[in-house]
Amino acid sequence: MANSKYEYVKCFEVEDEVMFPNIILVWINACKIHKPFDINTLKLMNSCAVEVLEEYADVVLAYGFSDEYTFAFKKSSKFYERRASKVLSIITSFFSSVFVRKWDDFFPHKELQCPPSFHGRVIACASTEALQTYLLWRQNVCHLSNQHEQCFWRLVERGMNEKEACDFIKGFDKSHLNNLLFDEFNVNYNTLEPILRQGSCVLKTVIEDIVKYTDNGAPVKRHRRKINTVHSKKIASKKFWNEQIVLLKELGGFVEEINNVIPEYVRSFEFDSKLMPSTWIVVRIDGCHFHRFSEIHEFVKPNDDRALNLMNSCAVAVLEKFWEDIVFAYGVSDEYSFILKKSSNLYQRRANKIVSAIVSFFTSTYVLRWKDFFPQSELKYPPSFDGRAVCYPSTEILRDYLAWRQVDCHINNQYNSCFWKLVASGKSKREAQNSLKGGQLQKKIEELAIDYNKLPVMYRQGSSVYRDKVDNFLILRENGKSSESFGKVIVGHIDIIGSTFWMEHPNILDE
Ligand code: GTP
Ligand code: MG
Repeated sequence: MANSKYEYVKCFEVEDEVMFPNIILVWINACKIHKPFDINTLKLMNSCAVEVLEEYADVVLAYGFSDEYTFAFKKSSKFYERRASKVLSIITSFFSSVFVRKWDDFFPHKELQCPPSFHGRVIACASTEALQTYLLWRQNVCHLSNQHEQCFWRLVERGMNEKEACDFIKGFDKSHLNNLLFDEFNVNYNTLEPILRQGSCVLKTVIEDIVKYTDNGAPVKRHRRKINTVHSKKIASKKFWNEQIVLLKELGGFVEEINNVIPEYVRSFEFDSKLMPSTWIVVRIDGCHFHRFSEIHEFVKPNDDRALNLMNSCAVAVLEKFWEDIVFAYGVSDEYSFILKKSSNLYQRRANKIVSAIVSFFTSTYVLRWKDFFPQSELKYPPSFDGRAVCYPSTEILRDYLAWRQVDCHINNQYNSCFWKLVASGKSKREAQNSLKGGQLQKKIEELAIDYNKLPVMYRQGSSVYRDKVDNFLILRENGKSSESFGKVIVGHIDIIGSTFWMEHPNILDE
C-alpha cells in the first residue's frame, strides 16, 4: 500500500535487540496485588506462569514468589528477533490476560475489582554464571522478604499499625526474624509452606510416552515435553540445576557453586534505561495475531463496532489510570498510541516499566470488559498485545506521528471497504486482492460505487481519546483533587491531521 509523507517518523524508533549470546530474562512484578499469606494468589501466579511456558516454546524456565515472576528464554531463542520491548510486552501482556481469565478458578467467591497490572524489565544475562547468580539473588530475596512479611502481618494482626510494625522489625536479620516468629507467635518458620519460603520453579522436562506397540510387541516411544512446578530449596545449586535435562540443553550447566551474590551483577539486573527527557513519549500497542483472533471470535468484517468500542473503552481506562501523564490517545483496528506529555516523569521515564505497565493494564482491562462488549461470545483464548515506546522531540513531529497513524487508518479502511465489497460481489479473496494491487484506491471506490463518506466516522477517522474539560482539570488539580473529579475522558472521531482540532483544544499538547 502507498506510503505517506509522514512515514519518516518511524526513524525515531530505536533498536533494542538483546544480542547473542546473552540469555534473555523477563522479570515482571505486580503493581500492588499481593496480600499477606495469600497462597491462592501465589497459585494463580504459578498457573499463569505454566501457561506462559505452554504458549511460548522458547521460555524454558520460570521462577516466582510473592508478586513477581522471572521467565528465562533458551540461549538460541529468536523470539521476536530478540527485540527487548516486544519480548517484554508480549510476555507481560499474556501473563496479565491469563491472570484475569483464571481469577475465578482461584477466587470463585471474590470478584476481581479492578484490572491488575504488571510491570517488568528485560535482563540480558551475559553467561550461565550470571543466570545462576540471578537465581540465587531472587531466591535469597524470596526467603528474606517472606520472613519479613510473616512477622510484619502477624504484628499488624495483633494490633500494631503498619508503620509501627515496619519500624519494629527494621534492621532485623534472618535469625532475629525467626526468633520473633517462634517466641511471639509460636511459629516454626521451617514448617511454613515451601511455596512461601522457597518460591516456585516452573520447568520443562522430557518424558517418554509409549504411543503403540509393533507387531512383535516392542514399544514405540515418543519424547514429549511436560511442565512441572516445584518448590526447590536451592534452585541455583549445581545439584538441582544439572539434573534438569532441558535446562542443561537450552541454557547450559552450572560449573561452580555460588554462595554470594556480587553487587555489580545485581546492578546489571536492576538496570533499566531511561527515555530522553523533555520529549513526547509515544507508547504504541498492537494486538498480537489479531488476524487470527478476529477470525476465531467472528469479528464483523472489516470493522466490528464491538471490537473497536472495547479497544476504546480500554484506552479510556488507561487515560483515567495514568491521568497525570497521558494526555491523548489515538486508536485504530487492533492498535492504540498513548501520548505521554513531555514533562512526564512516570516511573522516572524508565522505558521497560512504562511500556509493560501500560500494555499490561490495557490487556487486563480488555479481558475483564470483554463480556460487556461481546455478551454472546465467549473469549476463547487469552489475547495479548505488544508495545514499544518512541520519543519525539517536538510537537510538530508528534503531530506528524499522529497524522501517520490516521493516514494509515484511511488507507486501510479504503482498501478493506473495496476488498470486502469485491468479495461480497462473488470474487475470491485472491481475485479481490489482485484487482486492488497497485491501483488507486480512490478510483476503485468510485468504480465500486461505495459511498465512502457514509461509512461510520469511527471507521474513517479512527478514535481519539482525550480530556475535554481542560479548564476544570487545571482548577481541580491546583486544589489537589485527583483523577475522577475532573474532566471526563471522552472518545471522539475527528480529523487530527489538520489544525482545527488542535487549535480548538490547545491544552492537550500544551508544553
Ligand atoms: P501482528 O500485529 O503482527 O501480530 O499481526 P496481526 O494479525 O495482529 O495483524 P495487524 O496488526 O497487522 O492487523 C490487525 C488485524 O486485526 C487486521 O488485519 C484484522 O484481521 C484484525 N482486525 C482488527 N480490527 C478488526 C475488526 O474490527 N474486524 C475484523 N474483522 N478484523 C479486525
Ligand atoms: Mg496486530
